[in-house]
Amino acid sequence: MTTLEKLFSLQGKVAIVTGGAQGIGKCVAACMAEVGADIVIFDLQKEKAEAAAKEIGEKTGKKTMALTVDVTKPDQIAAAIAKAGEEMGTLDLLFNNAGIAVHKSAHDVTPEEWLKVINVNLNGIYFMAVEFARYLVKNHRKGAICNTASMSGHIVNRPQEQASYNASKAGVIQLTKSLAVEYVKDGIRVNCISPGYIYTELTGTMRKDWQEKWMDITPYGRYGQPEELAGAVIYLLSDSASFTSGTDLIVDGCYTAV
Ligand SMILES: NC(=O)c1ccc[n+]([C@@H]2O[C@H](COP(=O)([O-])OP(=O)(O)OC[C@H]3O[C@@H](n4cnc5c(N)ncnc54)[C@H](O)[C@@H]3O)[C@@H](O)[C@H]2O)c1
Repeated sequence: MTTLEKLFSLQGKVAIVTGGAQGIGKCVAACMAEVGADIVIFDLQKEKAEAAAKEIGEKTGKKTMALTVDVTKPDQIAAAIAKAGEEMGTLDLLFNNAGIAVHKSAHDVTPEEWLKVINVNLNGIYFMAVEFARYLVKNHRKGAICNTASMSGHIVNRPQEQASYNASKAGVIQLTKSLAVEYVKDGIRVNCISPGYIYTELTGTMRKDWQEKWMDITPYGRYGQPEELAGAVIYLLSDSASFTSGTDLIVDGCYTAV
């Protein structure tokens, strides 16, 4: 192995990827397996999660499994982490990525919709991170977490109105810093990524006029591909980031630079 390969290798590590049934989670999970990680997918969509795990295992030869988990349910999460730890032998890394969006104005969004977005995007990230850290501490292991925030945690998107999403993602960035500092003593690093517009089921099915506007105001003039996030996630989860915790890595085609 070259120095570069060693720096970014996830060989010998087991990683949980939430929201790994499709989109960014599935693509990044496959890239993590290619650099050596065994993969456990946690997602609400049972069949798609199982198919993704099978596909990644066949393509990379790594051990994979999928569990149906709702990241808003701490009891479900704790049971799934225990099961994954038992079946995979250990757990080391978490790509904490599941998320949803509701595009409604602050005026029109219902209390139920507001609470759901905050529950999945902020509480879900918190519940997963803390249960995962509990597992590591209990098993005397060090580890790393990468949360998926968003450029929406830094700026207000246009033209769609989505205060619930933006607020939830800003919360993820501050939660990441808070957990990073708390877990220094346990040898657990916590970072996040803030993607710009990435082409997935979440964005590719949106109104065409919105998509045109997004490309127009993104200096790169195009969507990012999920693969273009993999390097950032692998870096933050790998030993090459051993002195990096509490950081947010923005990957947005210069959206937030202007
Ligand atoms: N696509 C983008 O442009 C973009 C930009 C910035 C941030 N993000 C964030 O990246 C993450 C992934 O986005 P994506 O575009 O791949 O979305 P996606 O909708 O394609 O995938 C999200 C996955 O999360 C799962 N999920 C949703 N709620 C869940 C729950 N309660 N428990 C478990 N799993 C659940 C879904 O089943 C799905 O498989 C999200 O956090 C999103 O907010 C996306």
